Amino acid sequence: MSETATTVRVNLGERSYDVHVGPGILDDVGAHVHELDRSSAIGKVFMIGNPTVDALYGDRVRRSIADAVGAAPIDIQIPDGEQYKNFETLTSIYDRVLAEGADRGAVLVALGGGVVGDVVGFAAATILRGVRFVQIPTTLLAQVDSSVGGKTAVNHSAGKNLIGAFHQPAVVVSDPDTFTTLPDREYRAGLAEVVKYGVILDEKLFDLIEERGDEVSARAPQLLTELVARSVAIKADVVERDEKEGGLRAVLNFGHTVGHAVEKVTGYSRFLHGEAVALGMVAAARLSVKIGACSSDVPQRLEALLTKLGLDTEIPSDIDRAAIEHAVGFDKKVRGDLVTFIVCDSMGACSRKPLRAADIRPAL
Ligand code: NAD
Ligand code: GLY
Repeated sequence: MSETATTVRVNLGERSYDVHVGPGILDDVGAHVHELDRSSAIGKVFMIGNPTVDALYGDRVRRSIADAVGAAPIDIQIPDGEQYKNFETLTSIYDRVLAEGADRGAVLVALGGGVVGDVVGFAAATILRGVRFVQIPTTLLAQVDSSVGGKTAVNHSAGKNLIGAFHQPAVVVSDPDTFTTLPDREYRAGLAEVVKYGVILDEKLFDLIEERGDEVSARAPQLLTELVARSVAIKADVVERDEKEGGLRAVLNFGHTVGHAVEKVTGYSRFLHGEAVALGMVAAARLSVKIGACSSDVPQRLEALLTKLGLDTEIPSDIDRAAIEHAVGFDKKVRGDLVTFIVCDSMGACSRKPLRAADIRPAL
């Protein structure tokens, strides 16, 4: 196995797991799948991905699994795109896995971005009341966020991620070398989530991205390994303390309340999720200043860094502010007429504050 990999442990009792991060470790996937056999015998292994990622990395992962486990994984392809994160795709996975005679030892391996990870995770949560799954995230967003923490879901016509379950992966294998093929926009959108961890919980991480912004943009492999591992460690710590989002875990939604609203009012087609989160983080930081929670240097530094990383910081003027405010009021995290807003107290520190949707208007 790779000697340059870093491992972050997510401690959740009997559901604990390792997140391995390192350049080249796609070749170690098979060994990590095989290791699962030690806790309880593995049955059939299914590798689920989409044609885009499969064409780039599928053969390598298949070979690694076949070498370590002694049999090639059973291949399942789902269409590429957020619009396919739905019941139809889920059913196609159920049909195939059950037709192959899977038992409770089955292991589903999700190879791809957050869409693949979320839908495969939900399939694993529900097949035979729960089988193990392995996350092989290949986007920056998926490596720093969606592959860790056990949120799985599909979309419903009433909204995104409304049907889901908490189901932790058995192991996560994150290879930052996969970013070499990631489209520029996807890469930059993922950076917004890394910046988020710095703003909410780790000023030193924010400083590091500020100081080495050019290397970050150039996708320097060792630096990215560090950024992914640090982001995962922050997320792991939050998830360990509040797995089911009873309270604390909500801090991970910094920038997401306005971000989700912007995505919704623009029909989920104009912005990538991370791009909308960048806009939402700036709004949240400005709001934090307006309510006296932090000084203006927080939004100033945040805007400067996001701009340096190629992300927009101003919600375009053609987007109706009243529509955003309305969408905030319908966020799935609204209780009564109060939204739990994540505000900055200083760079690297944040807190939860219940606010009315109308309170955000001055920051938009
Ligand atoms: P995505 O999965 O749609 O991937 C983006 C695009 O990049 C796709 O076309 C994909 O095929 C392609 N791709 C993936 N890896 C590649 C690579 N290495 N090289 C070239 N192309 C590659 O998008 P995403 O941003 O990874 O994930 C977004 C999804 O994640 C959303 O559905 C969102 O709801 C979900 N999400 C879940 C959580 C969670 O905690 N479960 C957190 C954040 C986001
Ligand atoms: N992406 C936010 C969370 O996992 O809680």
